[in-house]
Amino acid sequence: MKKKIKNNVYWVGKVDWELKKFHGDEYSTHKGSTYNSYLIQEEKIVLVDTVWIPFAKEFVENLAKEIDLSKIDYIIANHGEIDHSGALPELMKHIPNTPIYCTANAVNSLKGQYHQDWNFKVVKTGDKIDIGNGKELIFVEMKMLHWPDSMATYMTKDNILFSNDAFGQHYATEMLFNDLVDECDLFQESIKYFANILTPFNSILRKKLDEVISLNLPIEIIATSHGVIWRDNPMQIVKKYVQWANDYQENQITVFYDTMWNGTKELAERISEGISSEDKNVTIKIFNIAKGDLNDLITEVFKSKTIVIGSPTIGSSILHSVAAFIHYVKSMKFKNKKAAAFGCYGWSGESVKVINNLMLEAGFKIIGEGYRTQWNPNKDSKKAAFDFGKEIANS
Ligand code: FEO
Repeated sequence: MKKKIKNNVYWVGKVDWELKKFHGDEYSTHKGSTYNSYLIQEEKIVLVDTVWIPFAKEFVENLAKEIDLSKIDYIIANHGEIDHSGALPELMKHIPNTPIYCTANAVNSLKGQYHQDWNFKVVKTGDKIDIGNGKELIFVEMKMLHWPDSMATYMTKDNILFSNDAFGQHYATEMLFNDLVDECDLFQESIKYFANILTPFNSILRKKLDEVISLNLPIEIIATSHGVIWRDNPMQIVKKYVQWANDYQENQITVFYDTMWNGTKELAERISEGISSEDKNVTIKIFNIAKGDLNDLITEVFKSKTIVIGSPTIGSSILHSVAAFIHYVKSMKFKNKKAAAFGCYGWSGESVKVINNLMLEAGFKIIGEGYRTQWNPNKDSKKAAFDFGKEIANS
């Protein structure tokens, strides 16, 4: 059933309460997600985005209960990824000639995924269509936010920005609007989404946010494609994005480790105590990488000014959990952060050097040479780990 957003604009999407993983298994969705699609019923009837493929039939059947599908004048595909375009093949069986407005890159992505030659209308920033009742839809390309094909659509008079993935969250709710949900949950899911999906595109995002803000469009509602619709102070999430896109960090040092026989875990705790003894104000968190959720860990890296990474030496290298974690950290292209390394070893002891080299490649400034100790930590090595923590706090 459609839900009213404002005047003649309705939500016709799908709430996916069961979703636990997104992008295959790459992104954990502890709180599910939504695929937001919007129906605009002005003099012209417009559908903005659709839903993910598994819900395509259900989506089209529900939509047909709300409107004669043949009456849809325009379809807007803000982004070609299948969580938003997934119902197009099913829908277009019913209305094969209806124009689909999207960017040139979206024509490529949609054709590449569905192998259909639909009636594409290519748009670029500033292009607009008249939808009657004195209202227009204006398109704004959002290249690399987060795909080359992404765009947003602005509806005049009602002042709604259909932002697609930008400003969204993987957050299942029937409540629809930001002022009706738990604020802590909402911001946790928002920052996790930004940290894991948008961080690599920070420099592009900064320019795009400046561009959108300088347009001075009155924005009363930001209608995202995932999670809640921002109607209460919608610019609050734009301001957060500006903050997050500027190489964000909090006064936080986070210790990440994996361990075989708890020696490296012991070092993690002593290092944390050393940091704490030297700086009473810094937030310190410790995570066992192998027991944590990779996307939640990345969110903690995002918030940190310094990360400390520990692994015992195995096979002249590091544990695979730590290697995978660092690989993911590197892909995020974090800027302006520091890293330090530690670990126990039995005989060869390469792990600290391996971590330092990998973190240097990942763009982090390395603190000192790291700390390693042979076999299980004794009184002296525990003290040395504590002192290394103090060095990290003072770096
Ligand atoms: Fe929500 Fe990039 O798709």
